[in-house]
Amino acid sequence: MSGVTVAALGDIHSNYIAFERCLQAVEKVGAQVILFMGDYVSDCACPQKTMTLIRRCMDRFDCRFVRGNREQYLLDHRAGKGSWQPGTGGGSLLYTYRRLTGEDLDFFSSMPVTRRDAFDGLPAVLCCHGTPDDLRGWMEAQPERAQVYLDQADAGLLVCAHTHRPGVYPLERGVMVNTGSVGVTTEPGLIQFALLHGEGGSWRPELVSIPYDVEAVIDTFSHDGFYEEAGLWPIMMEKQLREGGEQAIPFVERAHALWKGNGPVPESVWRQAARDVGILKA
Ligand SMILES: [Fe+2]
Repeated sequence: MSGVTVAALGDIHSNYIAFERCLQAVEKVGAQVILFMGDYVSDCACPQKTMTLIRRCMDRFDCRFVRGNREQYLLDHRAGKGSWQPGTGGGSLLYTYRRLTGEDLDFFSSMPVTRRDAFDGLPAVLCCHGTPDDLRGWMEAQPERAQVYLDQADAGLLVCAHTHRPGVYPLERGVMVNTGSVGVTTEPGLIQFALLHGEGGSWRPELVSIPYDVEAVIDTFSHDGFYEEAGLWPIMMEKQLREGGEQAIPFVERAHALWKGNGPVPESVWRQAARDVGILKA
């Protein structure tokens, strides 16, 4: 295969409106292969709509998947690990889990944590959600490891996601690309993904950003019980989608700093944390 265009999409997070818009763009540029980088669901509403779009996509493109940490959490929950309750702490994941089918979870289970894909006349491509060793790892935090992973896999392009921070990092023998996030970007109002142009024996990564209407996504939060089941998480996500930046980590860290007791963080503490970090008005 020569002159191939590969799309790499990460971190949809149930934002099916952004995902659908992204797929239109991928179709328009004529990509033949789509690398799906994990974290398909949770954090936005109606996860079943994202799963439907993924399956439709598999009929139209050569789709290849790796698992994200969100899929791992859902599989762990099915295996009886953890104890999510409705509310801010685990409610968004529980809401998502309750709307997925056994077939959806089997599909996640079938996804590898890393994959290596060969393309004729081009360096092999190594894909992972976080790092090849850690679904929640930040590849950008250890760029010197990227070369080691590529050398070990005899590959020339490392594609990762998870941090929602798109970037292209040239290495001594290859390149690392973080695709950014389709559904939950740090830049407000944008869908972000990567196109990997395989031409003349090497890969030329291109980071793509497309504007879209986040209010249409927030509107879906009032359907299907998301506000009712997920506590303040959808309120945090409203701020995330409208303002970008990093909303979830400071919110969770503040709640855990405030809560000195045992067991799950109570909703009253989540409310205080939300006021402290500006998710709710003080
Ligand atoms: Fe992730």
